[in-house]
Amino acid sequence: MLLVKEEHRHANNAEGDRDPLQHVAIIMDGNGRWAKSRRLPKFAGHKKGADAVRGIVEACCDLDIKYLTLYAFSSENWKRPIEEINDLMGLLKIYLTKEIDDLDAKDIRISFIGSRDRLGKNILSLIDEAEERTKNNKTLRLTLALNYGAQEEIVNATRKIAEQVKQGSLEPDDINSDVFSANLYTADFPEPDLIIRTSGEQRLSNFMLWQAAYAEFVFQDVYWPDYTKATLCDAIDEYYKRDRRYGARP
Ligand code: IPE
Ligand code: IPE
Ligand code: MG
Repeated sequence: MLLVKEEHRHANNAEGDRDPLQHVAIIMDGNGRWAKSRRLPKFAGHKKGADAVRGIVEACCDLDIKYLTLYAFSSENWKRPIEEINDLMGLLKIYLTKEIDDLDAKDIRISFIGSRDRLGKNILSLIDEAEERTKNNKTLRLTLALNYGAQEEIVNATRKIAEQVKQGSLEPDDINSDVFSANLYTADFPEPDLIIRTSGEQRLSNFMLWQAAYAEFVFQDVYWPDYTKATLCDAIDEYYKRDRRYGARP
């Protein structure tokens, strides 16, 4: 673990050819299977998953990671049973209510990406409060992807761009990837360097389709509730073994 930390610091300070690890994004998967393997109700898996989030946020502060994005609820997760959706929203409310003082004290800025449609009033006001209260914090930017779907994000960006063209503030020839990025939920974030998915599944499930263009992927065979700082350090070690070429000659 220490080795990772030192290596990470070194990489972040190096002027050489290594890419610093600025933004880690995690598809937190396997809560249901974790609970099933213990013959526990699904809720127990989600609750333990929320505890794992606390540990990983702290680990990212220790490891000097500047952006942590967590996929908490996808736009497709509304297809789940209503009881499970209520459990997940309930846990989110508890997290935001209980952790906000601590997150703020640790100088963590909280943000949300996703659609506000379908989210309850309570959740929306907790989100707004958390974003407003922590907006000047600098140590870590913790983003929760909630009611998030990348295809919807891309469609929305296209609609916003079309609107600008219609208003006459943008020429079609001036649409480029920078303009496009600026109209996504992640307009003011660097793209993720490392995308981790837990539980052994190897797919994006509609997460960051645009932003993942040159991300490194690490798939770990660990259910999210069992995820610890050591598991994160393994993924970071793997990241530093990769050679990011962006299409160029090494
Ligand atoms: C991840 O765990 C949590 C969410 C998707 C909200 P799952 O609930 O998807 O767990 P599995 O995939 O059924 O094990
Ligand atoms: C992806 O996990 C969404 C989140 C982690 C929030 P899912 O469990 O919903 O994805 P699929 O259904 O296995 O693709
Ligand atoms: Mg799953």
